[in-house]
Amino acid sequence: GYPLHEIDSVSSFAVDSVNLQKQIDELSSFSDSPAPSVTRILYSENDVLARRFIKKLMKEAGLSVREDAVGNIFGQWEGSEPDLSAVSTGSHIDAIPYSGKYDGVVGVLGAIEAINVLKRSGFKPKRSLEVIMFTSEEPTRYGISCLGSRLLAGSVSLATALKQTVDNHNISFMEAAKSAGYAEKNDFSTVFLDDKRYSAFVELHIEQGPILENEGISIGIVTAIAAPASIKVDFGGNGGHAGAALMPQRNDAGLAAAELALAVEKHVLESGSIDTVGTVGILELHPGAINSIPSKAHMEIDTRDIDEKRRNNVIEKIHESAVMISKRRGVELLGFRIVNQDPPALSNELVIKAMESATQVLNLSSKKMISRAYHDSLFMARKAPMGMIFIPCYKGYSHKPEEYASPGDIENGVKVLALTLANLSAT
Ligand code: GLV
Ligand code: MN
Ligand code: MN
Ligand code: MN
Repeated sequence: GYPLHEIDSVSSFAVDSVNLQKQIDELSSFSDSPAPSVTRILYSENDVLARRFIKKLMKEAGLSVREDAVGNIFGQWEGSEPDLSAVSTGSHIDAIPYSGKYDGVVGVLGAIEAINVLKRSGFKPKRSLEVIMFTSEEPTRYGISCLGSRLLAGSVSLATALKQTVDNHNISFMEAAKSAGYAEKNDFSTVFLDDKRYSAFVELHIEQGPILENEGISIGIVTAIAAPASIKVDFGGNGGHAGAALMPQRNDAGLAAAELALAVEKHVLESGSIDTVGTVGILELHPGAINSIPSKAHMEIDTRDIDEKRRNNVIEKIHESAVMISKRRGVELLGFRIVNQDPPALSNELVIKAMESATQVLNLSSKKMISRAYHDSLFMARKAPMGMIFIPCYKGYSHKPEEYASPGDIENGVKVLALTLANLSAT
C-alpha cells in the first residue's frame, strides 16, 4: 500500500492542468509543419529548441539534468537513499510528419508535472526519481525506432551501426548528433544502462486507440507491448518511356511494389488474428515522372503482433512474396532488409500492482490492456521492471493532427503516475 505517513493525503495532489496545457501547446509550436499538425524530427532546429524547453522545465522542477551521447535527457530528484536503484519515468517528444501534440509529450511534460505534484504535496522520495526524455522514439529520420531507449538497453549493433547511418539527405547520424551538441566522443556504448540503475520504469502515454474512451474508463494499465518489425524492400527494373515501351516489354518496379503492398495485407489478414497488423507507409518510385516507367521502387513495411511467432511468420510470407513477384515480373529484388524485428515486452507484476493500487486510491476506473503501439517502455523493460499508464484520447486518433487528450484525462494520468512513482520509490 501507499506509505501514507510520507504524505498528508492524495487529496493534496494538485495537478496544475492549466500550466501543463500551456506547456503542451508551447511545445507543439516547435514544429516543421503548420498547426494543428506537429512535425519534430530528430536533431532538427525545432527538436533542439524543444529539448531546451524540456531541460528548462526540468530545472524549474528542481531536477538535476544530465544528457547522454545520443541526447537522452535525464532529470533527477535525489532520494534519501541515493545508493538504491532509482525509479524512472518518461517518454519522447519527437513527432512524425504531420502528427499531433500528445503522443509522447504527455509522458514527458506529465512526468515533470508529476514530480511537481509530489514536491508540492510534501513527499520526499526514498529511491531517487528520474524523468527521462528519450531520443527519437519515432523512426522518421534514421529509420530506427526507439533509438535512445534501444541504446540504453545495450544494443551493441545499433551503437556500431549509427556510425555509418545517413538520412535521406545523406546527412550522417554522427554529423546530425554533433550539430545538436551530442556524440562528442564518437562512442555510443557510454549510453548503455547499468542493470542496477533502475528499480522500475513507468511510462504515461495516450492510448492511441479507442477503447478507454468508448468504455468510459479513465486509466489503462498496460500488461504487454506488441512486437514491432520493419522491413525495407527495393525493386529494380529497366524503366523507360511511358508511351513508347510496350506493355509486354516492361519490367515495372513500381508494379512489383504495388503487388507486394497488397500481398502484405493478404498475409496479415491470413494470420486470422485481429492482433496482426501490417502497413506500407513509405512507397517511393524512381525517377518519379508521370511519363517514365518506374525503374526503382523503395518501400518500407511495418508489421506487428502481440504474438511474436505469428508476426515472424508474416515476415517470412512477405519475403516469399517479394521473391515470387520479382521472378514473375522480371524485376530485380535489389534488397529485402529487416531493420528491426523486436520481441514483445511484458509489464512487471509489481509495477502493475502499484499502478492499480494508485487508481484505486485515486478512485479512478481502470482496465488492463495491451499496447499495440510501441514505446520506449518496450526497451526499458529489458533493464527494469516496466509498466505503462494509458489515458483516453479522442476517438483513438494518433499520428495525425486530430490527436487530442482532454486536460481532465491528462490530470488523471499525472496523478496516477505521481502516486505510482511515490509508491515504487518507497519500496
Ligand atoms: C510509435 O510511434 C509507433 O509507431 O508505435
Ligand atoms: Mn508515435
Ligand atoms: Mn509515443
Ligand atoms: Mn510511439
